[in-house]
Amino acid sequence: MNKKLNEFHSDISGFYKLPLKERQDQLAKLANLDQEEIKLLQTLGYFSPDQIDMFIENVVGSYQLPMGIGLNFKVNGKDYIIPMVIEEPSVVAAASNMAKVARKLGGFQSEEVNPVMISQIQLTHIQDIDLAKEKLASNKTKILEIANEQDPLLNKLGGGALDLEVRIIETRKGKMIILHLFVNVLDAMGANIVNTMAEAVSPYIEKLCGAKIYLRIVSNLATQRLAKCKAVFDKDLLGGEEVIEGILNAYEFAVADPFRATTHNKGIMNGIVALAQATGNDTRALEAGAHAYASLGGTYKPLTKFEVDSEGNLVGEIEVPLAFGIFGGITKNHPMARLALKILNVQSASELSQVAAALGLAQNVGALRALASEGIQKGHMALHSRNIAKLAGAPDELIEKVAKKIVEDKKIRVDYAKEVLKEIVKSKNL
Ligand code: MEV
Repeated sequence: MNKKLNEFHSDISGFYKLPLKERQDQLAKLANLDQEEIKLLQTLGYFSPDQIDMFIENVVGSYQLPMGIGLNFKVNGKDYIIPMVIEEPSVVAAASNMAKVARKLGGFQSEEVNPVMISQIQLTHIQDIDLAKEKLASNKTKILEIANEQDPLLNKLGGGALDLEVRIIETRKGKMIILHLFVNVLDAMGANIVNTMAEAVSPYIEKLCGAKIYLRIVSNLATQRLAKCKAVFDKDLLGGEEVIEGILNAYEFAVADPFRATTHNKGIMNGIVALAQATGNDTRALEAGAHAYASLGGTYKPLTKFEVDSEGNLVGEIEVPLAFGIFGGITKNHPMARLALKILNVQSASELSQVAAALGLAQNVGALRALASEGIQKGHMALHSRNIAKLAGAPDELIEKVAKKIVEDKKIRVDYAKEVLKEIVKSKNL
């Protein structure tokens, strides 16, 4: 069927082959964009058209988010300014406040994070499972050798394939052997490295075991790459005994109830994902890994733990798999990710993961503290009210005034903000 260019449809073949400008023109026609919208689409910020076109397919524009900085963080005695890319108000402030509270009693203490990733190789249609298992064990050196041939540089730097684990699983398609390849990926997130290795060793393994191999892919449940971090939050700075009692109750609520644990962990990921976004890391891999880890015991649990020390201070701990990289992916070719890494000043992926864990813990305490005392809406609404004032058409010089009034009157809505704005303008013109 012949489609007219300005007739709405979504089956546009070869779109990715067009130059960026032509893609934008086509889209503008199809989606009926006006001049202002087209201009917005063409605003690529710090990207050149060539740069932005390199990242994904069918690029039509660049999407910006605010980058803030989390302050007051001290992890293992070192100070950090943490870049955070997130659209949600209060997150950066909450993390910074809690880092200040933790700082009084020494800041965050974190363990080294082993940068070991798991690649999975799925062996199916195996003639003799026990024999295959035996062959995998006796040919381990050869398999690791083939894997390591894929990345001589990684080897030279001290990384590479380390070990194998053979798992047998029952599926509705019969028994399968799932071979785990453990790889030290050093400062990379590592998915590309381990995927390449898994694909490279598969033909040899297929022959060796008389099996059919299907999947050869990283597991985002990075249980070998655990970040563990701890901090003591000063009782008085936190708001006193009653607030701590509230936090402990909130924590027990999360332990006992997956509905609450999900939101509890979402708060933790507010911080971790904001840092991941800022540094060009794979946020989906981190989210998937964290939530899967939270449910490894069979029930979904909080990723943090809390107790009170002998002085009545709150002791918080976090344990979460964190596959962060400072090398590879877009960490080095996205200009802002590069800048964020410079601001953060970390020397390794492990150090980045340790800071991320501290941020996640601070974020969690911040959320629980607010929830257990004045509630979360107060902080949220302060920023939100400014956005509402703006949406209501308040000029820059009146935004604060309109925002303050709608918060005071507890009517944080655009229609009310418009009313308030009208009143303010009227009184000014009198
Ligand atoms: C909101 O983004 C995060 C919180 O819901 C986390 C929590 O409830 O612990 C406040």
